[in-house]
Amino acid sequence: MAREQFGVCAEPSLHGYYLLFNALDDKNLFLRKALSRLPALFDKYADRFSEANLAGVIAIGTNFWDELYPQGRPKHLRQFPEMAIEDRTAPANNYDLYVEIRGDRADVNHIVATKVCQLLSDSVELVEQVRAFRFLDGRDLSGFVDGTENPQGHHRRRVALINDEQDPEFAAGSYLHIQRYRHNLNLWNSLEVKEQEDVFSRTKVNNDEYSEENKAPTSHIKRVNLKDSEGNSLEILRQSMPYGDMKLQGLFFVSYCHTPEPFELMLKSMISGDAHGHSDHLLKYTQAETGAAFFVPSLNILAQLGE
Ligand code: HEM
Repeated sequence: MAREQFGVCAEPSLHGYYLLFNALDDKNLFLRKALSRLPALFDKYADRFSEANLAGVIAIGTNFWDELYPQGRPKHLRQFPEMAIEDRTAPANNYDLYVEIRGDRADVNHIVATKVCQLLSDSVELVEQVRAFRFLDGRDLSGFVDGTENPQGHHRRRVALINDEQDPEFAAGSYLHIQRYRHNLNLWNSLEVKEQEDVFSRTKVNNDEYSEENKAPTSHIKRVNLKDSEGNSLEILRQSMPYGDMKLQGLFFVSYCHTPEPFELMLKSMISGDAHGHSDHLLKYTQAETGAAFFVPSLNILAQLGE
């Protein structure tokens, strides 16, 4: 049975390191071998620093997949849904590889990120790096708790991982979408707390959800809480983390799912809005600066890359 990469469904951590690479020409043979060795590298440091709860994810960019694994393509692997309406934009970038390193020790993440870069160094160019951290009790830098309605327990696996019936060849894999959002916290903090709460349809301090009749159609929760034609909620597993320094701040948004569709529909609902043009007012205070789609192969497929 195929085994998933541990980081996909791992619980939230205190620190994150996200690395985005492009592959250099004519290095695919080397790169396949190097990628196949990364899970063992994660295991080694997870063992050595067991209290760090280290979790890693390796993902392959949608445009790079065929070059790296010509034997087959996950059924629904496709481009990131680039969108732009007025000042609401979701740009798309082309990254070949994504490596997520999460854990409760920033120093251990740093060591592991260094080792990953060393192992891949002859075959890739590092094009983006984001160091992220848990903020207070799991809040976004807006001050609101992020992740409350995430699937919990065993349900995380059902949402995030492809099962044997859905796509047997790629079982235990996952579709990944990322976006680096940059917040305008000066503008956000100029709002009254009640105005901020209306943007999410949740209270700030206690994180209570508004009653249905009090939710504005332009609130974030209203825009992303979608149902399919049979009335079932569309779900994704969010593993986003805040990042920032004294110059710029935001959220590194990360979504895993057994199909790309829920993320695509949610993003469209935020940007295009509903039939009455109600788009997500959260986007007045934050803007996506990057976006990309990847596939997270099972450990079995990663191992095959090295053969
Ligand atoms: C809910 C923040 C972008 C999907 C939430 C909540 C917060 C939040 C505070 C409420 C608590 C929770 O259930 O987690 C943000 C911020 C974003 C962002 C700050 C960008 C800067 C997105 C994007 C998507 C998304 C791009 C998907 C395309 C969801 C979903 C929920 C949610 C599915 C749960 C809704 C529910 O069922 O109540 N987000 N979010 N979010 N967000 Fe976002």
